[in-house]
Amino acid sequence: MSGVIGVLGGAGTVGRVVVDRLSRAGHAVRVGGRDLDRARAVAGASEAFAVDLGEPDALTAFSSGCSVVVNCAGPSYRVLDVVARAALRADAGYVDAAGDAVALDALTADAPPELQALPAVFSAGLMPGLSGLLPRLLAGAGPIGRLDIYVGGSVEISRLSAVDTLMTRGPRFGHALAVWRDGAVVGHSLTPLRSVSLPGFQGRVHAWPFLSTEAVSLAAALGVAELRNYTVYATQNLPDVLAEAWAADGPVEEHVDAVVDAARRDVAECGRHYAVLAHARPPAGSGGTSRRVLLRTTDSYELSGVVAASAAVDLLAGRVPPGAHHAAEVLDPHRTAAVLAADPLVTMLELPEVTPR
Ligand SMILES: NC(=O)c1ccc[n+]([C@@H]2O[C@H](COP(=O)([O-])OP(=O)(O)OC[C@H]3O[C@@H](n4cnc5c(N)ncnc54)[C@H](OP(=O)(O)O)[C@@H]3O)[C@@H](O)[C@H]2O)c1
Repeated sequence: MSGVIGVLGGAGTVGRVVVDRLSRAGHAVRVGGRDLDRARAVAGASEAFAVDLGEPDALTAFSSGCSVVVNCAGPSYRVLDVVARAALRADAGYVDAAGDAVALDALTADAPPELQALPAVFSAGLMPGLSGLLPRLLAGAGPIGRLDIYVGGSVEISRLSAVDTLMTRGPRFGHALAVWRDGAVVGHSLTPLRSVSLPGFQGRVHAWPFLSTEAVSLAAALGVAELRNYTVYATQNLPDVLAEAWAADGPVEEHVDAVVDAARRDVAECGRHYAVLAHARPPAGSGGTSRRVLLRTTDSYELSGVVAASAAVDLLAGRVPPGAHHAAEVLDPHRTAAVLAADPLVTMLELPEVTPR
């Protein structure tokens, strides 16, 4: 594969970074969005298209001639597989900065024939994405008995991402307070960690147990006996707003302002910081050692753009096989870690000493 990479939503928080990293690497980048002037103004864009993903003809025109389409438009949990299908129909590979299992399942439930020859990669962001990929670096240094993962911090949230945040609930996304133990999801096992200090996280934080579908796949893939997965918040602002929204159970749009405002208050109170920490303990009595991977960034949304751009480059280079995949399950964690280590958005990357695959 070679040629143009299309970035739908390339003028957004995630998309701008995708366009920047791809154009700096010498790729021709087509930017799409509803507002043509905004698309044209994106630094690094070699061409711009006015396209609303709700209009099939415009989406087809945008995808035609692209080798890969990267989707950074949303809300992802409403868009599902719409952009992926248009990309594949136009003979382009596909990368989604979000999507999660709900989008991948929508595509594979009625898989288009092109998927036999082309790759489609979902969840190529930070969470989901790096949250399931980086812990795989811990597997090279021997078996893991227990794996604890903490992801979160304090960053602004766009209105569009707020919709996705509000929609991240229900069994297709994961189980609150659950743990993975001996091959099964065990509900009501963990309690929130309030006002704790965690390595790599700034100040005291609150860590909420949420066993995501990504974490379950990771636990099964690594064969760990126990996995605890936490979403980390800098303050109570976001947990309070999300709890209120989910209790109200009305249209998510009613709560978007409150989510955006809660994230803004976090940044005003605590600054902008975000971390991924995965801590592996060896199986009891195995004589192995504990190890960890730790990443810090100033902005999880922008860093998602780095991950999506890196995935697009992997597709172009033929490093991703045909079919639908989650980024965490198909990208090489060592290669992605090398990209992250060189990126200015990563303020710290501590890797375990392991032998690359
Ligand atoms: N996996 C992760 O960790 C992760 C992290 C961050 C974000 N995300 C996901 O990435 C997506 C983008 O988030 P963001 O914060 O970058 O949003 P954003 O700043 O609002 O940007 C969204 C972009 O999409 C375009 N867009 C919106 N609706 C569109 C439509 N109907 N047709 C075509 N283009 C459209 C917008 O441009 P116009 O207004 O001009 O159309 C804009 O450029 C969200 O789905 C979010 O959930 C995932």
